[in-house]
Amino acid sequence: MSDTPFPKTAVTLCGSLRRGSVNEILRRHVSRELRAAGVDVTDLSLGDFEMPIFNEDLEAEHTPEGAGRLAEAFRSHDIVFLATPEYNGGLPPLVVNTIAWLSRQKPSPFRHAVFGIGGVSSGKYGTIWAQSHLRESLTKIGALVVPTLLGVGPDSTAFDADGAPVEPAIKSKVGQMVRELTHFSRGGI
Ligand SMILES: Cc1cc2nc3c(=O)[nH]c(=O)nc-3n(C[C@H](O)[C@H](O)[C@H](O)COP(=O)(O)O)c2cc1C
Repeated sequence: MSDTPFPKTAVTLCGSLRRGSVNEILRRHVSRELRAAGVDVTDLSLGDFEMPIFNEDLEAEHTPEGAGRLAEAFRSHDIVFLATPEYNGGLPPLVVNTIAWLSRQKPSPFRHAVFGIGGVSSGKYGTIWAQSHLRESLTKIGALVVPTLLGVGPDSTAFDADGAPVEPAIKSKVGQMVRELTHFSRGGI
């Protein structure tokens, strides 16, 4: 359990740059709930951390400035939350590319914060395959991902006009995730 005094800090991100992204709605909702729990939240957009498609040749020549900045944001906050769409039963290229670049930054940006993941999709399975891929990938590179499975779908009926989840079960899962994110800590690891 936590050995870090409040206030904790968080960054929240969305794995879609689409205008009107439903994952951005989820990201905003989780930010609001983290703030309500006393967390100092910084809202980030991956659009502000541009990175070319990863290729080891590029890496040898030049690490994109955005990768270094985002890595530092991960290292300097207690909590990272990422809402991501599911593409073809897996992760969208934006998320895969971001993880590839960050996994090459030193010291590791994945070993300080506690991670929460979730997603919204147009299908009723609500990104469960994407969440499974993401959890496995993050875990393999040393991240501590909290257990709540926050898959939301279908997107057309998921949120009310204020961007809050309609289903009580989803509201309760967000609450559970916020409790996990604020109570678990990497401590000195
Ligand atoms: C290339 C592509 C692949 C997709 N594959 C899936 C999928 O495997 N499962 C799913 O539920 N939705 C899938 N979708 C639909 C997305 O859930 C939907 O477009 C969603 O709105 C994307 O999230 P966003 O609004 O945050 O961009 C796919 C969409 C695209 C563009």
